Amino acid sequence: MSIKGKHIVLGITGSIAAYKAASLARLLIREGAEVQVVITPSGKEFITPVTLSALTGKPVVSEFFTANDGTWHSHVDLGLWADLMLIAPATAATLGKMANGIADNMLITTYLSMKAAVMVAPAMDLDMFAHPSTTRNIEILKSYGNIIIEPAAGELASHLIGKGRMEEPEKIVERVRDFFGKQDSLSKKKVLITVGPTYEKIDPVRFIGNYSSGKMGFALAEECADRGAEVVLIAGPVSLSVSHPNIKRIDVESAEEMYQASISEFPTVDAAILCAAVADYRPQEQAKEKIKRKSDEMQISLVPNKDIAASLGEIKKEGQVMVGFALETNNEVENAIGKMKKKKLDYIVLNSLKDSGAGFRHDTNKVSILDESGNKTDFPLKSKTDVAKDIIDCCLGRKK
Ligand code: PMT
Repeated sequence: MSIKGKHIVLGITGSIAAYKAASLARLLIREGAEVQVVITPSGKEFITPVTLSALTGKPVVSEFFTANDGTWHSHVDLGLWADLMLIAPATAATLGKMANGIADNMLITTYLSMKAAVMVAPAMDLDMFAHPSTTRNIEILKSYGNIIIEPAAGELASHLIGKGRMEEPEKIVERVRDFFGKQDSLSKKKVLITVGPTYEKIDPVRFIGNYSSGKMGFALAEECADRGAEVVLIAGPVSLSVSHPNIKRIDVESAEEMYQASISEFPTVDAAILCAAVADYRPQEQAKEKIKRKSDEMQISLVPNKDIAASLGEIKKEGQVMVGFALETNNEVENAIGKMKKKKLDYIVLNSLKDSGAGFRHDTNKVSILDESGNKTDFPLKSKTDVAKDIIDCCLGRKK
């Protein structure tokens, strides 16, 4: 995706990595973007405004007023002008001010007035980056919808080795390109995603469940939301948190609760991705009191749960896309095709527990995507974030 003609406000703060902002500005301009630098007073200690204005062809903005003629620089106008605000490098102090709305410089007032998306590339020493206050501020910024470009690990200005170094300008430009490429490709679309395990109560302290962590489904939800979709995330019991403003999360525990939530949300969505590992059976009776140990054998009678995917498949309207998952241990492709047909899915994502690093709990997955016309695309082992991108490209349309 080209960034030609895009208006980018480049925020620079007081970090040694500010020297890299010059290359960053140059790369963005070389790709055809218009760059307006806003720099904090301490940023100017690390790189001169003259260098930056020579590179961008625009006067650098730093103060609210130009001292000699009293010209007022409008942070509100910058907020309206920009297609993206990119703060690189962002110091721990700036992250804290952004998270808490401490508008004591031009950069923060511009940030608070920003109508466009904001990307933030932190840069600081490893201990500062690892400090709980930095972690908390980054979480707060994510919850505002800001995109964090994680710092890289390596040798830092302090000569210590660890995570905190601002990502390289080339990589940041790649993220900017990617952002404009995928921005809005799912806008005006609503996607339902089921995720995690379900717990089927035996008694007040025990349940039947499975090992699903929710990682795959949460990665799908974040990716759909990043591409502009409104996401309804129906989550079984998982310990993950979600921070994107486009994601509405509905927490459920049992398959029946997941079924009820899915049936009620499905009529208004454009697509459903059924990633949850739903228990196929539940105990016929749920004991009111804790079941006591007995010396002889004990049996629990199970009754089938509703098949959520199959139920949605029955009421699917034209234009709605349904993507299911198949977690298999044997006869993988045959079983996956059988499930796709039985549940009237448009696509099924097959992952096999035979592949190491795939399936439950891992940060990675290895999938094949099958469609109803019989096409099968195999993907290598990747992070669940990248697998989510492949699934969305393949099933909900490629990036623009
Ligand atoms: O959560 P993670 O730890 O990241 O792990 C990810 C995952 C392994 C759970 C995920 O990648 C996955 O494979 N999810 C589906 C697991 C599963 O239950 O597959 P299945 O073959 O039993 O079910 C087939 C399809 O029907 C699935 O889309 C499932 O959501 C759906 N289903 C199944 C039973 C049921 N009662 N209702 C359903 O909707």
